[in-house]
Amino acid sequence: MSESKVTAPGLLEMKERGEKITCLTAYDYPTVTLLEQAGIDVVLVGDSVGNVILGYDNTLPVTMEEMLHHTKPVAFGAERALVVADMPYLSYQISPEQAVENAGRFLKEGGAEAVKLEGGEEMAETVRRIAEVGIPVMGHVGYTPQSVHTFGSHKVRGKDEDSAQLVLDGAEALQNAGVFAIILESMPAALARQVTENLTVPTIGIGAGPHCDGQVLIFHDMLGLYPGHIAKFVKQYAQLGDAATEAIKQYIAEVRSGEFPGAEHSY
Ligand code: KIV
Repeated sequence: MSESKVTAPGLLEMKERGEKITCLTAYDYPTVTLLEQAGIDVVLVGDSVGNVILGYDNTLPVTMEEMLHHTKPVAFGAERALVVADMPYLSYQISPEQAVENAGRFLKEGGAEAVKLEGGEEMAETVRRIAEVGIPVMGHVGYTPQSVHTFGSHKVRGKDEDSAQLVLDGAEALQNAGVFAIILESMPAALARQVTENLTVPTIGIGAGPHCDGQVLIFHDMLGLYPGHIAKFVKQYAQLGDAATEAIKQYIAEVRSGEFPGAEHSY
């Protein structure tokens, strides 16, 4: 891992060198501090904040104000990692002008260094307009959570020929429009490999197998901190939720018994 600041063009160089890109989500200062200490390359302030932190059923209710609120402390705490802010539902789909204005807010007010938006070919013009004003844009194809009601229960995209072609065409259109990287979510590993091989910009996979140029997971999922459904593609590297519950139970028991606070915690 290089010590130097990670930048959007730097990710392209990582792909060229065959170095895997690491990415995790963060929504607050303590989390980004942990990610920095561990040496993460990219921190995504995902609109998954809606599910993971705000308790919504999906990402649709997340607002620009909520995203900016969570982007600021992450940008403040990030040093080496590239900070990417996720554009929430209906903050970029209405018009390219609306998209440029809101993308700009993430850099001006939030301190982010890039933005991410969902969608393929239909978003190419919007990506081009945002990139033209000097804002690096990350794409996101495959399963795109803001289209939850369109997809219904079909969480894995690109399983048949037509929907695989949509993913391939979408990724190519986004690259031509100027994205610096593309998230590939929930698709067969063979399709993600094909997309990755077709593109010069790096792909970052989540539920898209091992052939992507990098991987991303949601912080709370991989550490066992999210009580909801955990997808098959998530590897849980720790069960911090269980450890936290045990610690809290011990605290409650010690307060009730008078064991805490002891002399060493008293003035
Ligand atoms: O919002 C998010 O965290 C994301 C990741 C799942 C890629 O978009």
